[in-house]
Amino acid sequence: MTRQNSIIEGPRAVGVPNPAAVDAIRAEELEAETRVGPDGMVRAATPDIPSMPSVSDIVPNYRLDGHVTIVTGGSGGLAHTLSQALVAQGSQVALVDLSVDKLARVEKELQEFIAVNKLAPVAISTWECDISDAQNVEELVRAIPRDHDGIIPDKLVHTAGYCQNVPAHEYNAARAEHLVKVNLLGSLYVCQSMTRQLLERSKRRRSVAALPGSAGEALPKFPNASYVLIGSMSGLIVNTPQPQVAYNMAKAGVIHMVKSLACEWARYGIRVNTISPGYIATPLTKQVIGGSPEGAALQEMWTSRIPMERMADPREFVGAMLYLLSRTASSYTTGENLVVDGGYTCF
Ligand SMILES: NC(=O)c1ccc[n+]([C@@H]2O[C@H](COP(=O)([O-])OP(=O)(O)OC[C@H]3O[C@@H](n4cnc5c(N)ncnc54)[C@H](O)[C@@H]3O)[C@@H](O)[C@H]2O)c1
Repeated sequence: MTRQNSIIEGPRAVGVPNPAAVDAIRAEELEAETRVGPDGMVRAATPDIPSMPSVSDIVPNYRLDGHVTIVTGGSGGLAHTLSQALVAQGSQVALVDLSVDKLARVEKELQEFIAVNKLAPVAISTWECDISDAQNVEELVRAIPRDHDGIIPDKLVHTAGYCQNVPAHEYNAARAEHLVKVNLLGSLYVCQSMTRQLLERSKRRRSVAALPGSAGEALPKFPNASYVLIGSMSGLIVNTPQPQVAYNMAKAGVIHMVKSLACEWARYGIRVNTISPGYIATPLTKQVIGGSPEGAALQEMWTSRIPMERMADPREFVGAMLYLLSRTASSYTTGENLVVDGGYTCF
């Protein structure tokens, strides 16, 4: 079956338009661009702490109201739980995956989750896109604000990817290349397109606001921008017994790509981090390990290597994601690889 590479606009976004939030984000960015301390240095993204701080000066805020988060791999097992957490925190979400039909189901479930939990409605949009196609990713990222009241996404939760178990000496070149293209280059394309769009918007705003004869342009800052990429402990260790060389090398690449992007984009206030999970009990892994003696033996082998002696539940990644997305909680964390593996990589 051939994959559709075109961008298909999903169902119209639903929810409450939030122009006030857009203005608040812009105001924050402008403020961060211009605040200069007595030493002549532009201040960091976080405000100075007064001598008697209020609770909000000290305790981080994990709300994401007024932001649009792009969730790639939006119909996957991990993304399912992470998207619920995102809408619960007030973020609008743009779900991206290969099949818009699956995404429509995910969107329906998310709407039910919002209704049952009596959460404030947020806009949810769904987008069909193969992230291994750079041009499609660029078009996707530029189209998303149309369904989100013009808000440019500045948060990313990138889960799209897949694994293949093939002995290295038998790995067909085209299959290995495709896996690396999706898992590694696809991650790069999404991050690149998001940053390009943020920088272009800022450039447009500046050209309108520019004072004639003003000297030296300050760098644009996006202190709210945070990209979280799901890597894997496979980027650090070699899983056993299953052979998966292309996946392992792609995930190792993601961890180092994130460090590179973090270094390049720190000057713009954009933070980029990886979460590297160990084995997660998603529908996909449950399919592999459930229902056969071989699967049960595989699970036993995996868990015997995990100090916590069990696989993870997708909910156990929500805290790490919210920490990294939150401007106040992780304002000084970038280029990090947060390993959440029940201790697997300690052995
Ligand atoms: N499940 C685990 O045990 C585990 C462990 C470590 C890391 N991870 C990583 O976590 C992420 C999510 O895993 P999951 O268990 O939810 O898997 P999943 O298969 O349920 O979800 C991945 C999603 O990515 C989508 N996708 C694949 N190729 C794509 C492409 N070219 N363009 C757009 N979307 C594409 C798939 O359609 C799928 O919906 C993956 O990156 C995976 O490598 C998973």
